[in-house]
Amino acid sequence: MTLSSEAALVDGLIEAIPDFPQKGVTFRDLTPVFADGAALKALATALTRPFEGHFDSIGGLEARGFLIAGAASVVSGAGVLSVRKAGKLPRAVLSQEYALEYGTAAFEVHVGQLPAGSRVLIIDDVLATGGTALAAVNLIERAGWHVAGFAVALELDGLGGRSKLEERGVETFSLLQY
Ligand code: PRP
Ligand code: MG
Repeated sequence: MTLSSEAALVDGLIEAIPDFPQKGVTFRDLTPVFADGAALKALATALTRPFEGHFDSIGGLEARGFLIAGAASVVSGAGVLSVRKAGKLPRAVLSQEYALEYGTAAFEVHVGQLPAGSRVLIIDDVLATGGTALAAVNLIERAGWHVAGFAVALELDGLGGRSKLEERGVETFSLLQY
């Protein structure tokens, strides 16, 4: 399957929901993509292919990033680094706070989960302001690993996410742009 046929398959399944979660916002719902085996496989293949040979592990971002990261693991053969929301991991963790529209959140990883210097491809569903992605980049680097890149199903233009990542020198790939 070519990149454009993968993009068309995924794009055709995304539903635009007006006024969710609040009036004036259009929510791009990827659950139909996750529910379709061929589309999920095409998405996982498209997101890992540009980084082939350059990553040892896939950094899956809780929650929606996990769905793609698991599939990307199967198509690429790399395991998944669990980048979890705060308070979920049972062993010693490193934490990274990040800003939300209201308040803050934090991601955590298990200390020593991967060998030092491991190359991690971060995967998520949507890139909007880039706050989530940047927190994952900071956390992975602080943990002693290398960020191989950031791959995302859907990039929302005009919210500054890509430039935040590029300023940090993170190679960024999005399958679809809205
Ligand atoms: C959503 C989405 C991305 C993030 C993008 O996650 O899944 O991870 O927002 O926004 P940003 O680029 O402005 O940071 P969210 O934490 O809302 O929910 P989830 O736990 O369902 O993934
Ligand atoms: Mg998310």
